[in-house]
Amino acid sequence: MKYFIRTYGCQMNERDSEALGAALEKAGFIPGTEEDSDLLLFNTCSVRDAAERKAKGKIGYIRKLKQKNPNLIIGVTGCMAQRLGEELLQELPHLDFVLGTGQMQRLVPLVQEIAADRKRRVETEPSAEVLESMGGHDSNPSWHGQIAITRGCNRFCSYCIVPYVRGREISRTKDSIIAEAKELVAKGVKEIMLLGQNVAAYGLNGDTRPPADGHSPFAELLEEMNEIPGLLRIRFTSPYVSYFNDRLIAALKNCSKVCHNVHLPLQSGSDRILKAMNRQYTAESYLAKVAEIRAAIPEVTFSTDVIVGFPGEEESDFLMTREIMNKVGFEQAFVFKYSPRPGAKSALLADSVPDPVKEERNQILLDDLKERIGRKLASLKGETVEVLLEGVSARNAARWSGRTSTSFVVHFEPDEKCAVGTLRKVQITQVNAVSLFGKLLAE
Ligand code: 5AD
Ligand code: SF4
Repeated sequence: MKYFIRTYGCQMNERDSEALGAALEKAGFIPGTEEDSDLLLFNTCSVRDAAERKAKGKIGYIRKLKQKNPNLIIGVTGCMAQRLGEELLQELPHLDFVLGTGQMQRLVPLVQEIAADRKRRVETEPSAEVLESMGGHDSNPSWHGQIAITRGCNRFCSYCIVPYVRGREISRTKDSIIAEAKELVAKGVKEIMLLGQNVAAYGLNGDTRPPADGHSPFAELLEEMNEIPGLLRIRFTSPYVSYFNDRLIAALKNCSKVCHNVHLPLQSGSDRILKAMNRQYTAESYLAKVAEIRAAIPEVTFSTDVIVGFPGEEESDFLMTREIMNKVGFEQAFVFKYSPRPGAKSALLADSVPDPVKEERNQILLDDLKERIGRKLASLKGETVEVLLEGVSARNAARWSGRTSTSFVVHFEPDEKCAVGTLRKVQITQVNAVSLFGKLLAE
């Protein structure tokens, strides 16, 4: 039997899809295309309404494939499956199953049961079993691998559906994460991304308060990862700013393999809006944390997530967001237009900012970002940086590209010693508004 998985949403979903694919292959399935597969799985996202509409549109559209292949099994998993459950079966008559976020380990037996009796099924009961049973990876991975170290979230930001669709935060054991990392490295992986909705809450056993200074099980995990022979780089996403304590900053500074790029979701620069979002920090304390991290690691770069048009956001609130973004000087930012999510607290508030205003604010922040990135890239001209080679550039087959620890991509002409997943030095010789170009230095 052939399978095909289409993934929507975040890196956690990408990672889940990889693990689901590995479980299917272990059971004898082989990868196919959307047209020739016997199992089509949609791993969905609920974080914004647009993500759900996109997935539903696509699932509706593939109804015709079932007319061609009556044995085809179509399933939905992930966040939208968890949020809508039975409703999806009713809305999409050609759908065979809905598998929730806490039941993904059930995929293979579920598909086998459906193949035998053709009965439709919904499984959305949360189960802790999912935590340690989603460890499968591509049998032939690239230089880069991802490991989910926690599942779920306990923060309940008022706009966010994640705690409802992914449940309470649970952490894996350190031993199983280290074993998974070593397995990846043995298969040739050189860089590992650690994933969690609030990754710095790792190991806090669901305690809803940020850890006290000096205490960070996540920092301890990074230190242990740093000792894995053959692993070159470690990245992680996303830490909630209040969990980024002195202990974690020290680990970031002292672990040579941990990259100097921090994704630190800001969401808003207005204290009034942050409060309405149930974010447990102020613009000032956010800036103070950035300064503390910078003081320890001067070259560090920051990226962030921001929401524009949260209920009640006035022009003055937006300008505070704009100001703090410029103050931090983020090298990358993902800007989202607020989308009310039924079930999340803020959905009870009037969605007061008109769409064109959300769009305008979105555009202003993106224009600021573009200008800032241009200036930042220009400032790197002449510098020599170390990059992890990622292979042939997407846009120009004559060039290769590599990424710095601070997450800048550099393009260059390869030499005969170039190998994917190795570290090399490059001198930056040319810069345009969006890219860096360099000269590979001899080893
Ligand atoms: N509307 C818009 N953006 C949202 N995000 C989460 N929930 C919403 C929502 N209801 C954004 C946040 C989060 C990112 C993954 O998605 O910025 O950090
Ligand atoms: Fe990821 Fe959140 Fe979307 Fe779920 S709802 S896929 S956790 S971004």
